[in-house]
Amino acid sequence: IEGGFLSIVILGASGDLAKKKTFPAIFNLFRQGFLPLNQMKIIGYARSPLSDQGLRDRLRGYLKAEHTTATKDSIDIVDKFLDLVTYISGPYDSDKGFMDLNEAISSHEQAEYGKEGPTRRLFYLALPPSVYIVVGKLLRHHCINQRGWTRVVVEKPFGKDLASAEELSKELGDLFTEQQIYRIDHYLGKEIVQNLLVMRFANRFFVPIWNRDNIANVQIVFKENFGTEGRGGYFDEYGIIRDIIQNHLLQVLCLVAMEKPVSLSPEHVRDEKVKVLRAIEPIQNKDVVLGQYDSYRDDPTVSRDSRTPTFAAVVVRINNERWDGVPFILRAGKALDSRKAEIRVQFRDAPGDIFKCKKQGRNEFVMRLQPSEAMYMKLTVKQPGLEMSATQSELDLSYHQRYQDIVIPEAYERLILDTIRGDQQHFVRRDELQVAWQIFTPLLHQIDDAQIPVIMYKNGSRGPLEAEKLVEREGYVRTSGYIWIPPSLK
Ligand code: BG6
Repeated sequence: IEGGFLSIVILGASGDLAKKKTFPAIFNLFRQGFLPLNQMKIIGYARSPLSDQGLRDRLRGYLKAEHTTATKDSIDIVDKFLDLVTYISGPYDSDKGFMDLNEAISSHEQAEYGKEGPTRRLFYLALPPSVYIVVGKLLRHHCINQRGWTRVVVEKPFGKDLASAEELSKELGDLFTEQQIYRIDHYLGKEIVQNLLVMRFANRFFVPIWNRDNIANVQIVFKENFGTEGRGGYFDEYGIIRDIIQNHLLQVLCLVAMEKPVSLSPEHVRDEKVKVLRAIEPIQNKDVVLGQYDSYRDDPTVSRDSRTPTFAAVVVRINNERWDGVPFILRAGKALDSRKAEIRVQFRDAPGDIFKCKKQGRNEFVMRLQPSEAMYMKLTVKQPGLEMSATQSELDLSYHQRYQDIVIPEAYERLILDTIRGDQQHFVRRDELQVAWQIFTPLLHQIDDAQIPVIMYKNGSRGPLEAEKLVEREGYVRTSGYIWIPPSLK
């Protein structure tokens, strides 16, 4: 990457997000040669009193040259990476800490690059949003780059409802320009999510049928087969809609439903996302099912009488020419029977059925985000053999089979590379965030006021039966007896 000495500063460097996601992603970029080895430093900042070596020791276990066994080379590369990492300890609200930080950045810049060259400063806030503003102010005051760009990366939760999110946006907007702020939604970094625009707009197959005349319903599903263990305190305050649906699944919905952008430039893409979000109708209570798994309150960090939903199914209706009448069902849950995320587009029946295929099920196009990325089309074919009968089969693009030599990058890897390159396409713009909150805030307030029932479900089950009924009511036709079996690795 061109552009001068690069400082990546991770605030909250000793926390969970930093060690599990941020540092490993930067390491992977480094390992693959995407970062300028001799022109960069990575500086951790946090309150814990640690030495440089102390931070390195903490990180080492999380840095693996993935998909290879630990060879001498892979150990060397970890060491080379850790050599670039230094640490500064300080509070999040003191001038002194941030002056020290600025001095450390400047001294690296000068030592490595001389006094004249251009420099780049990326600040990654792996911090709770409660300190975003105080940290933002201190960064603004003490650490702005005088010889090149300054960028700030932030993570959700961006507020708890429309009003709090707007306040945060405003305060952040007073400190940095929109071009400097990178709001991460890591679902936008997933391979299959990034494929959505290509699939939809580069294939003649899909272009003419991607609309209400042909599509009966769309489901966007997120399931985890574990609970909120270890994160109960955070989760109990937010719930599944704020944690997954209002951001990750709604972002996916945008890409499934938006019109074709004028170009792939970040503003063109985001303009279309905002447009489709604005066409979403207010959510009705009859279109919502909430659940909580039975052992959720056993977590000591969760309140004893918590009504926080750990499961939700919400029907979203888009009032525009393309989608009028097509339900988009967003479903997310913790402690369910399996772990997966997928987009399932179900088509209407073929008219004038002479094969009596209806009982065979409808055409579906499924994009599986995880695990094992895949896309497959369920279709009706002749059952091979002497009889003329129809059966369900599939055209299947399973990534691990089709792209055997390609390692699919982690979402964070891709997104951090985008922040260095200055590409905001896969980041959430301020107005986009605002509309996303507008859509869900009335519902969230009702949930917070205990106005919507929360149904108990068994840990490890499929979630409340009421959600299945909702999906059926919205016209989803389940194919009986058909199960897609992912091809095993050869
Ligand atoms: C996070 C949520 O944003 O996404 C977590 O806060 C969730 O609750 C996680 O587990 C899921 O991410 P992924 O990439 O594992 O699907």
